[in-house]
Amino acid sequence: MRPVARYWGRKPIEAVRRFIQDTDSVIVDPFGGSGAIISEALGMGKRGIYVDLNPYAWLIAHVQIAGAPTKEFAKASGEVIERAMRLESDVKGMDLPGDWLFYGDGKPFLKRRNFDRVSQFFPRENLRRLRALLMAIDYTNTSSNTKLALYLSFANALYPSSFMNRRGAGSWGVPSYWVPQVSSPMDAYEAFRRATRRMLVFLRRIRTYSVCYSLDCDAEARLILGDANGINYDPEWTLITDPPFTDEVQYMELSFFYWVWLRISELPNIMRELLGRDVEYSFERELVINPRRGVQTVQYLDRLGEFLSRTANLRRRILIFHEESEKRLNRVRELVRRFWGSYREYVILIDTQRNIGPRGGIKYFVFEALS
Ligand SMILES: C[S@@+](CC[C@H](N)C(=O)[O-])C[C@H]1O[C@@H](n2cnc3c(N)ncnc32)[C@H](O)[C@@H]1O
Repeated sequence: MRPVARYWGRKPIEAVRRFIQDTDSVIVDPFGGSGAIISEALGMGKRGIYVDLNPYAWLIAHVQIAGAPTKEFAKASGEVIERAMRLESDVKGMDLPGDWLFYGDGKPFLKRRNFDRVSQFFPRENLRRLRALLMAIDYTNTSSNTKLALYLSFANALYPSSFMNRRGAGSWGVPSYWVPQVSSPMDAYEAFRRATRRMLVFLRRIRTYSVCYSLDCDAEARLILGDANGINYDPEWTLITDPPFTDEVQYMELSFFYWVWLRISELPNIMRELLGRDVEYSFERELVINPRRGVQTVQYLDRLGEFLSRTANLRRRILIFHEESEKRLNRVRELVRRFWGSYREYVILIDTQRNIGPRGGIKYFVFEALS
């Protein structure tokens, strides 16, 4: 099925299905991304725990898993556009606060190409309209699931209404802040209208599940916003996860394009109410290789090792990895052996994956702990 939103993570579902089927316990995916593994587990009648530290990923996973009432969503999305059109002339000060593509120490994002700020990626007219749309969603009085689906539709309208949009290129851009020579941003209202139409089709098609937001609550899915290295893992859970690989996809940097918008809306307040704590956007705790931030392969492997050691007490452990360099793969193998003990390794070819970067191979390595 077409995903509910654009997210860069690979979805190696074919590699995990058998392991999901085989288990009777709760499945935990602490690098959950857009929620593909947990959705699959729920679809197969299991219970799941989703964790990711990226609030944009959490939003996608929430809509994907909990859905929203379709009639309510259809009504609310129509109202949002009408209200935004009325609000548009009131929008003042269109700059997005803190939207610089730089870290605190002045170093530019690894994936910054053409512009310095997120707002520069939008025509002025669209900046105003997008601000109006966001305000209109804030004012909409509806259930929290519908609100989340509206905010995600808004996020889905951002790329098409920016200079990154290329005619005929679909809504899936390159994984960097890059503007093509010939770009054709769509009108923001039109982009939002299309995004809500696609969302409605999606919502009508999916099965939805009950969700809650902490490790000790009770629902089909627990959706946690947090650090995989900050979770107390229960030995009874089954771990199935695909952590960020060494291919340098910058999840937090790329999601920032969406988050600088979403964070000026009511969304962080809604999330705070659901989660019971403030929503952070933490580059520091991300498991990734980013030389700009001084995080090289060595530090990446240290953190991966910490994760493997934290999860070593789980009854079943499955780690999916994608790596083209045999040398780096061997270092991952060493870590798995050191922290998890003996394991079985499978190689799985998945050719339904989109090519998401320079190292977009189809070969996946699955490590299954044996002890
Ligand atoms: C390879 S992607 C997972 C893709 C996923 N299978 C999907 O359905 O989209 C890895 C994810 O790990 C998340 N991540 C990175 N560091 C993390 C950390 N310390 N704790 C939790 N999640 C983290 C990233 O935000 C990203 O979403």
